[in-house]
Amino acid sequence: EKQGYTHYMLKEIYEQPRAVAAAIEPHVNPEFFSVALKNIGFGQSVQKLEELDSKADWEKTKEVLKNIDRVFIIACGTSNYAGMVGKYLIEQLAKVPVEVDIASEFRYRNPVIPPKSLVMTISQSGETADTLAAIRMAKEMGATTLSICNVRNSTIDREADGHLYMNSGPEIGVASTKAFTSTMAVLNCFAIGFARLRGTMDEATEKELVKSLLAVPSQMEGVLAYDKYFEEAASKLKLFRGFLYMGRGSSFPIAMEGALKLKELAYMHAEGYAAGEMKHGPLALIDERMAIVMVAPTDHLYEKTISNLEEARARGGKVISIGTGDNEKLRAISEHYLAIPKAHWTTNSILTVIPLQLMSYHLACNLGYDVDQPRNLAKSVTVE
Ligand code: M6R
Repeated sequence: EKQGYTHYMLKEIYEQPRAVAAAIEPHVNPEFFSVALKNIGFGQSVQKLEELDSKADWEKTKEVLKNIDRVFIIACGTSNYAGMVGKYLIEQLAKVPVEVDIASEFRYRNPVIPPKSLVMTISQSGETADTLAAIRMAKEMGATTLSICNVRNSTIDREADGHLYMNSGPEIGVASTKAFTSTMAVLNCFAIGFARLRGTMDEATEKELVKSLLAVPSQMEGVLAYDKYFEEAASKLKLFRGFLYMGRGSSFPIAMEGALKLKELAYMHAEGYAAGEMKHGPLALIDERMAIVMVAPTDHLYEKTISNLEEARARGGKVISIGTGDNEKLRAISEHYLAIPKAHWTTNSILTVIPLQLMSYHLACNLGYDVDQPRNLAKSVTVE
């Protein structure tokens, strides 16, 4: 079943271009480069979704979404980081305020959910106890709910009013990889569709964003080549005492996700931080035994990210950086520079996470750990 791969995780990392293509496919028209969210089925049972008339259903979805002026995204772990990327996408494109919360916090803090709120949950398994409790609570409070799941007909999928799917195929490795990138692709579709119907995006921008989204699967193929790179680099990288992952904007959740992957797979200390927070504490951690992992694709925050990077480097930190294309500056100041292809800011995150997945994978293999089944963890957390 591993189809020649040493681990499910590696197989699933390699499946990402296909998984992302499958996540986008139902919602985009590759001829007109437009988005029509397909068969969300607000108010319909999950069993009926396939039979819906897609055009009529999209009209219904538009009616529902037109009435929404606030979004809450609720999830756990990696799914929560995908939700954070979703916040940047939805706020920037559709100009609707988005709050992202960890399900176990949301459900116990008596959240204020105003009328006209959409509560969106993200769950690969669709069975995570806290996320399920959160969606039930949101429904009871009168919110419209929308789930993004990978497992169709899972409990969360069935509870939700509307349904989106990651379409990743089964994810067996405990560490989530393809479900994460597929979710970011679905969130791109959602944000574009939502922005169009709210009138915050013109047709030309829609075309541009859909084109960049359609280009992602083949761009991902190139980034997968870092597999060999990290296989070799792992024996050096494992000597670091700790790893500080940083990024700004939509690269901040990628820093969080990179750090989580390293913790759960290689059992090494890693922290994810918003790069702008460095001066407020973490700078004190930095010395030559600390690796700085900087997620710095070319976007409107790039210059600010670079000045944070220079500060960290001046304290002796060794730099592993991810940037766009042949970036001589980043290459010069980094021990390891990993390039992603030039992309729109909306899709950068789907590309920058891949080297981080591969780095954690190879560090864990090099250290002799069980990659597919890390200690103390379960694939699906069905108890709180
Ligand atoms: O199935 P879910 O997406 O609801 O799972 C949420 C988390 O348990 C999950 O993403 C977890 O953090 C992964 N092991 C991360 O790789």
